[in-house]
Amino acid sequence: MAFTFFFRDPRALGLISKHVVPKLAGKKDIKIWDAGCAHGPEPYSLAITLREEMSHFMFRNVKIYATDIDGSNLFENRIREGVYSRIEIGRIPDSIKKRYFSQIGETEHFKIKDELRSRVNFLKHDLLSLKPAGGDFNLIVCKNVLLHFTPSQRLEVLKMFYNSLASDGFLVLERTQEIPELFDNMFEKVSSGGQLFRKLKDTIKNNISFRNEISIN
Ligand SMILES: C[S@@+](CC[C@H](N)C(=O)[O-])C[C@H]1O[C@@H](n2cnc3c(N)ncnc32)[C@H](O)[C@@H]1O
Repeated sequence: MAFTFFFRDPRALGLISKHVVPKLAGKKDIKIWDAGCAHGPEPYSLAITLREEMSHFMFRNVKIYATDIDGSNLFENRIREGVYSRIEIGRIPDSIKKRYFSQIGETEHFKIKDELRSRVNFLKHDLLSLKPAGGDFNLIVCKNVLLHFTPSQRLEVLKMFYNSLASDGFLVLERTQEIPELFDNMFEKVSSGGQLFRKLKDTIKNNISFRNEISIN
């Protein structure tokens, strides 16, 4: 099972609450791609964070596309069922646990509320296929995945992310993953540590320089 846990990166979730959520107000379709989501703690932590910041009505417009190569073939059912053990949800603050999880009978397992489960859809997807899981994403989260790729694969995947984002979309990477200089006119850092990036406008100029500079065969 992939290494991951609920609320693994509270800083990133805080940046999303502060900078991304306000930009989503009024959007009818809020599309989010969690790339390399493992068996669900990350997309569900994201869903909880968004629900905490949004009204019931706004949250109904959220769709999280949670994707993973899923070599174990175990992730889809776990994410769809939304059942996690007491140990797995151990780090979640009690108040959040009470609001979003219910214990299954007398067991040591807890189920995520339907309101959250219905917003998260799992798709088996290989990032290195370089075929995006969709388009016009308002937010792409890809954490602790790119570090497993070669530098040229990373560039290609970042290029795919850029092209799959809506013109005002955001990208979240892990704190240690900087975007290469090559992308300087494609993304701007929103947070000083370099974890949350905003896509700069799809101007013709940007697209031309982008295509010319990134051509990896
Ligand atoms: C360390 S886990 C990170 C999980 C989560 N993003 C987090 O930060 O807690 C890395 C995940 O990347 C997935 N992964 C590795 N290569 C991939 C690829 N080529 N396409 C999609 N997912 C991939 C693995 O299956 C695994 O679930």
